[in-house]
Parts: sequence; structure tokens; C-alpha cells
Amino acid sequence: MRVVKFYENNFTITTTQNPILAAAQGPQPDVRTMLGEEALARLRADVSQGSALPNIAYTSAAWLELERRHLMWPMWMLAGFESQVRDPGDTLPVTVAGCPIVLVRQRDGELAAFHNVCRHRGAVIVTEPCRNLATLTCPYHAWVYGLDGKLRTRPHFHGGGNHDVPSDGNERANLHAVRCESWRGMVFVNIDGNARPLAEHMRPADDQLEGWEPQRLAYGGSLTFEVQANWKHIHENFIDVYHKFAIHPALCEFAPLETSNPMVPIADHLLKTEHEIAAPQEGRGKGLPPLPGLPDVLHREGRFFTMIPTCNINVWYDQIAILVAEPTGPGTTRETIHLLFAPEAMAGQFDDARQAVLNTWDGLNREDIGPLESMQRGRVSPGFDGGAFSPFWDSGTHFFARQVAELMLHHAGETP
Ligand code: FES
Ligand SMILES: [Fe+2]
Repeated sequence: MRVVKFYENNFTITTTQNPILAAAQGPQPDVRTMLGEEALARLRADVSQGSALPNIAYTSAAWLELERRHLMWPMWMLAGFESQVRDPGDTLPVTVAGCPIVLVRQRDGELAAFHNVCRHRGAVIVTEPCRNLATLTCPYHAWVYGLDGKLRTRPHFHGGGNHDVPSDGNERANLHAVRCESWRGMVFVNIDGNARPLAEHMRPADDQLEGWEPQRLAYGGSLTFEVQANWKHIHENFIDVYHKFAIHPALCEFAPLETSNPMVPIADHLLKTEHEIAAPQEGRGKGLPPLPGLPDVLHREGRFFTMIPTCNINVWYDQIAILVAEPTGPGTTRETIHLLFAPEAMAGQFDDARQAVLNTWDGLNREDIGPLESMQRGRVSPGFDGGAFSPFWDSGTHFFARQVAELMLHHAGETP
């Protein structure tokens, strides 16, 4: 067991070795060695002298593996929404930080998460969202698990016609549970099981969102993009308010750069900004009922959060968009944008207005993909070394990069 004092905020985290993850860990390269002392010094320098992470952090499979183990598995990661698994037996398979996980609504109404990997030969068990299942059945040799993850039956296990029916499960064959907690209707998982409680983790965002009740909102669909860029480019682009004048003309009319603010840290894992809205547009604050409970101040303001490592939350007065970047390789990312609306906005009369929101996000994201993929190509060049920042706009990007490194050093137990 080791005790880590967090970078800011004086949080104390106690970590214990998770036996499942311990078994999965072979010899690992060292975070600090891969980063290099010079790059670490520039991450820790003042923004005017600072740089982002070195190129290797965008191109190396070994570095991505370190990120999974020392950044993503120890942190709270968004997995889905309560409304997607509303009733007993509802299941939602997701991939979080490379791990297949399934959310399962229990018979008593509680939500559980399991590693969605069969204990027999490791096949993925639940492959699509399902409603009202009584059990979880592996598609390969049909081992059956209860909603509580306990093994129920193993057909033909002792030979043809000779089934195994354990009376009270079998520890060696039960599904591994994953720690899961909800915050405002969003379901997060903590894969190593050692994070502080989610409510505590999200308290700095709560303080910014009084009256905000996403748990009352309806799930309005999602958009998915396969991007040929490292997952951090997607988050750094979200933090980068600066670029919008150059590539998002419609967004700039809606929320001009002149009344926008750079992203600033509000905790060691959270950044936020707010933009004044100049004029509502179709797909952006026009034609849909407002979110319930939202304070008046948010009717002419967009509020945005980046939650390290992989989740961004956009609050506008008629919609919440939540962006998740799931790395599929060092230079590839599956990006998903989830949309939440007021419950009354789901009525048929608002179909066109909701579709306009989805179209707007689709168009906006496509404007970003070219630059994202070009930055990925730039990361193999010896002509780029982490970059030089605008002290006004880029301090959030610098902070994000530094925190990725600091959190990894902490969770890896390496010298800070
Ligand atoms: S891998 Fe699941 S039953 Fe064999
Ligand atoms: Fe953008």
C-alpha cells in the first residue's frame, strides 16, 4: 500500500494493489524515462517557456499502455448514462480504456459493472445493448451468468449431456466486478478500484453547476467518429478555444472569440470555461425547450468542462453534449458525442430541432478532424518538439499535458 499526496487540492489517495490488474501487469517501461527530463521540465515550466507532451506520447504503443494503467484505470472514466440501463436486466456493453465492460441494472434497481469477458476462454459476453435480460450468456460455449455476475451453468462441462450447475456460483468462474458510481445520471467506472469516491472527485464541477440536473434529461442519441489522431489531440482541441476563429465560422458567430475565455483549471483533473452566446442558431439554442432547472445565467452562456483523462462536458441552455475519446491505438481514437435534452424535447414536434443539433455537432466535429489528423502527422517529425504556447490561450492545454504526466507519475509510484 502506498499513500499519494495529490498535486493540488491536498487530496489523499490510498492505493492498494488490485489483484486482477496485478496479474495483468508484466514488466513495464518507466514513465519518467519515456518522458525524458527535458520534456518533464518544460511541462513544469511557466506556460511562456512550456511545451506539451513530447512526440512519443502521441505515437508510442508502449506509452499508451502506460496511460491505460497509470492514468485511465486509476481514474473515474465515463461509461454511460443511467437512462441507458433503466430497468432490471438492461445491459450496456462499452469499452473503457481498452477494457470491455458491461453495465447491468440489477433486480433491486442498483447498477453494477463487470469486466465483459468470459471466465472460460475470454470471449466478450454481451455484444450489444439489451433490455430486460434474465441472465448473461456467453456466445462461445454458452456459459451462463446471473445479472449479479455469478456463474449459473456450464453446459456439457463434464462431457456431452453432463452439465455443471454450481449451487452458489464459483469464485474462479464468476465475472469480475468493476467499481461503478453515478454522478448526475452519468455512470463512471474506476477500473483499479482505488479512486476516491466519485462525488468527492466531481465536487469542483458541482460548485459550477448549481441547479443543473442532467439526471432528469433524456438521452437523445450519439455520434461516433473514427479519428486518425491520438486521443489527447481531441482533448487538447476541446481545451483550445483559440482555434475557433480560424476553422469554425458558424460557432464563432454563435459565441465570438472576443467574448470567449480560455480554459482554466478548477481542480487537479478538471478545467472549465464559459462563453457568452451572441445569438441562438438552429442546432445551437434555437427551437428546443430549455433544460429543466437551469439558472437564468446559463440561458445566454455555454459552460464547458474537461475532465481528465477522457471526458468533456458542454452545457448549453437546450442541450448537453458529452464527448468521450476512447483510444484504439496510439494514433487512432474512437470519439463519441452523447446528446442529452429536456424530456419534453423528445416529443415528435421537436424531431427536426433535435436532428439539427446532431447535424451541427457532426459538422463542427468534421471541421476539427482535418487539423487533428494533421497534428498527428506532425508528431512523427523531428521538427516538432512539444510546441510553443500562447500564454493567453494555451495555459489550459499546458496544464492538461502536465497533469497527464503528473498523474501517471503518481499512479505509477515513480519519483515525482
Ligand atoms: S469463452 Fe465463454 S463460454 Fe467459453
Ligand atoms: Fe474545434
